[in-house]
Amino acid sequence: MSAAMLFVPGSDAGKLAKIPGLPGGALLLDLEDSVAWPRKAEARKLVAGALDQYGNSRVLWVRVNSFGSDLLFDDLDAMVRQGLAGINLPKVESAQQLQTVDWMLGALERRRGLEAGSVRLLATIETALGLQSAPEIARSSPRLDSLCFGAADYSRDVGLDWPPADGTLPLTVQQAKVTLVQVSAAAGLDAPHDGSSAEFRDLDRLELESRAACALGFGGKHAIHPVQVPVIEAAFAPTGRQLAWAREVMAAAQHHGEQEVGAFALHGVMVDAPVVARARQVLGRAALPDGV
Ligand code: COA
Ligand code: MG
Repeated sequence: MSAAMLFVPGSDAGKLAKIPGLPGGALLLDLEDSVAWPRKAEARKLVAGALDQYGNSRVLWVRVNSFGSDLLFDDLDAMVRQGLAGINLPKVESAQQLQTVDWMLGALERRRGLEAGSVRLLATIETALGLQSAPEIARSSPRLDSLCFGAADYSRDVGLDWPPADGTLPLTVQQAKVTLVQVSAAAGLDAPHDGSSAEFRDLDRLELESRAACALGFGGKHAIHPVQVPVIEAAFAPTGRQLAWAREVMAAAQHHGEQEVGAFALHGVMVDAPVVARARQVLGRAALPDGV
């Protein structure tokens, strides 16, 4: 999955028309919180049209409305079609919710002649209940690629301001993010994605936020404005120093492996199996194609 997924509001025909030229890999067309209630049905039509028009040239995901909204059934029915890469389900609070969506996607794939399991899922955890159920949610569907974190909704749910006035992540939010990294790894999912940064003109702050999320173990972050995309991509890409280190470790490991040596010293630091595995992971991440 691309490190930066740019949200495009589903009721904004002008912004949807920009899809071919928008930066980054995957895009996230939104039917949820950027669409005003009176315009939900219109947004569905516009986004379905965008999937038809651009879905074979861009990787297009759709954020549908949540279980509590009464809109979800019709959203899924309208979105499952050729050109849809996957569904982002917001405010997921139980494994059962994700299993229900999984079942419905399967039925719609059959009805529309799509390959079984081809519509993927991203589940956004953004309430305290969702966080508590995250270990079960993470294992609830073979379609699930990764979890996402929604800091604005989560902060409101636990009674905190968002964005934080002094720019520092409250410990409660930090702990939620750490939990999602651990839960994702334990369930064999891709690293989780961080939610968007609302202060979209402040790119220095975005860079700091992105680097902080990367340092916690997140694999990417959502964007809301095109200018944010390159900043996020750069923050999550392995650094030149990491890549040089990983290549050197792999070369040394091969040399020592040929002599059947498992642990060896490199510049005064011990290298053994987990270090080699991490070097392989860094190189694998750098080789990932964008736009997936
Ligand atoms: N997708 C596509 N195009 C976008 C865009 C987006 N998310 N954000 C901005 N643009 C386009 C604008 O349409 C504008 O195009 P123009 O120059 O041809 O008029 C250009 O980029 C510059 O935009 P700018 O004037 O700087 O911003 P704005 O005031 O038009 O929009 C936001 C600001 C925040 C309203 C807008 O970026 C947006 O709607 N973002 C997505 C919001 C969203 O989906 N939220 C839900 C998830 S948290
Ligand atoms: Mg949210």
